[in-house]
Amino acid sequence: MWQARTIIHNGIAMPFHEARIHPLALGVAFGVAVFEGIRAYRHPATGAFSVFRLEEHLARLAQGMKVMRLADPPATDVLRAAVLEVIRLNAPDDDAYLRVQVQVEAMGTMATTGPVGWIAAALPRERSAKFATGLSACVSSWTRIADNAMPPRIKASANYHAGRLATLQAKADGYDSAILLTQRGKVSEAAAACLFLVRDGVLVTPDRTSDILESVTRATVLTLAAELGIPCEEREVDRTELYVADEVFLCGTGQELVAVTQVDRLPVGDGAPGPLTRRLQAAYEAVVRGLTEAHPEWRTPVPMG
Ligand SMILES: Cc1ncc(COP(=O)(O)O)c(C=O)c1O
Repeated sequence: MWQARTIIHNGIAMPFHEARIHPLALGVAFGVAVFEGIRAYRHPATGAFSVFRLEEHLARLAQGMKVMRLADPPATDVLRAAVLEVIRLNAPDDDAYLRVQVQVEAMGTMATTGPVGWIAAALPRERSAKFATGLSACVSSWTRIADNAMPPRIKASANYHAGRLATLQAKADGYDSAILLTQRGKVSEAAAACLFLVRDGVLVTPDRTSDILESVTRATVLTLAAELGIPCEEREVDRTELYVADEVFLCGTGQELVAVTQVDRLPVGDGAPGPLTRRLQAAYEAVVRGLTEAHPEWRTPVPMG
């Protein structure tokens, strides 16, 4: 597999392992950073790379920088150019996982908002083996962070603490993954992925006020499902709906679409990835990789020359 060799830090391309910030910078000390995980896909026939929904990721990053009140944040045009450039500089021979991150690089107090720095990185990341088989999940005793404490709507680095604790607990207890409930006891999402379930042929996902990250993949799945004629509902979801659902799956840029075949040791449906999950996985794969002509606006071509 290819290796990450170059990172762009504050506009300067440098060897991947040489990027530095001070350990007491607020980006490290308090996790005052916001980021995006994005994927670039390689077309199997042409070898051409395209970045999936780059504009939506950059828009969410801009919202995050605003909510965090970062001073003089980098412009979207600068970040877009850096993302495309870092792919070219790393010359991947397969799909790449891209990280764009903006962090406060100064030391200071709680009220320090800058100067900020930023990186664009390209990393190899294989598709999860669970993509084919599905995974087991538990409903965690850790709860999802709430909008009036640590807004989950933005992709801030510090937001990942609860999801990490839930994941560590899930793995210690023999599950692959954790599903977190909101403070009100409704289903929110997994540690780094949104959640869908299927009930009586209807695709259901927790709504945008269920303390979810407003996921790019979730929005993609809702669009693809509507185009396939699958009825969709965005609404509050009860925990026990997970137990009686016909299908459950997680979605996110990193995990893509992966079936949940067991929740709290109860089989989901017949315990195997279900037909709607399979259909949506195939539709997702086609659109991210450009195997279909549909939605060209979602794929930004990467100039590799
Ligand atoms: C907490 C959390 N929820 C959901 C998602 C899925 O979001 P997206 O589809 O935009 O990648 C992520 C993505 O990594 C995430 O970190």
